[in-house]
Amino acid sequence: MKLKKILSMAATGLLSLSLLAACAGNETTSKTGGESAKQVSFRLASNHPEEHPVTPSLREFAKLAGQQSKDSVKIEVSPNGVLGQERDVIELVKSGTLEMAKVSASALEGFEKSYSIFSLPYVFQSTDHYYEVMDNSEAVQEIFTKTKDKGWFAIGWYSAGQRSIYTFDKEVASPTDLKGMKIRVQESPTSIAMIKAMGGSPTPMSFGEVYTALQQGIIDGAENNEMGLTANKHGEVAKAYSYTEHQYVPDVLIISTKAWEKLSEEQQQALIDSAKESAESHKAAWEKAVTEAKKQAEQMGVKFYTIDKQSFIDAAKPLHDEYKDADELNAKYFDDFQSYVK
Ligand code: GCU
Repeated sequence: MKLKKILSMAATGLLSLSLLAACAGNETTSKTGGESAKQVSFRLASNHPEEHPVTPSLREFAKLAGQQSKDSVKIEVSPNGVLGQERDVIELVKSGTLEMAKVSASALEGFEKSYSIFSLPYVFQSTDHYYEVMDNSEAVQEIFTKTKDKGWFAIGWYSAGQRSIYTFDKEVASPTDLKGMKIRVQESPTSIAMIKAMGGSPTPMSFGEVYTALQQGIIDGAENNEMGLTANKHGEVAKAYSYTEHQYVPDVLIISTKAWEKLSEEQQQALIDSAKESAESHKAAWEKAVTEAKKQAEQMGVKFYTIDKQSFIDAAKPLHDEYKDADELNAKYFDDFQSYVK
């Protein structure tokens, strides 16, 4: 086992112990208007920095949850990946050591395979289609809640825009351009299959490792939304962003079932409503942030290329069929998603 991996596992172990210790005193009971309301304090982990638009939206969620629970639920947002990379924090939430996290739906595929649909390239055809599905689809609700007895589940989502490919300096206009190029993908089997189908050589790694991997030339490029260039600083190294718009992968708000069960029904409802409200205001904040990120990236020397996506759409098509044929439930989810195309 690589030294880095051992150190990271040890760090997660230590983190678990210290989080457990911190957990021990996080519940008190107080009298509110004659009724006993259990006060709880939850931590919410995210791998993004302060300047990423999801961070203020998570703080908004925390604020609303406080207000709507009459101050009985306190949520402390821990940004910047200080509590670990996405796989680590999902493990911590699953075990009940950490209460909440915001993670990419792609990272959840390793824990519940139904999440693979969110990484399927071109499953969403436009921003409107994406929002309609995420806000209304029964399939999404089914996927979000089906892991409740596995220690965790999802109570909301935040838009993370569209993902496109970026490289050091090469425009990627068709699958042939990706030949021989190592493109970092999330640790999701569907994203790995996607880059293969799109002509490139997929290199899965955690998000925290991407900047250095780009800098050291371990990879030739990556794929993410425009915020990857600015808030996450990849634009300091990667200067060509081609609008393949292959995925819309939502950021998902997960909670530990243990933490959930400590809440009264009113507190649970307060969390669900606050997640919904903050996700709604996040949509406009996201669009604004994308416009700003493009300007900022251009100042960093990044060139944006609008391309004809059809050759990528065609290359990804067999993945849709494979996905539907693999399982009846997949076919049901896929059809449900497509029923929201207007
Ligand atoms: C997005 C997403 C992160 C994720 C990252 C990635 O930035 O918001 O949660 O970690 O993609 O590519 O890994």
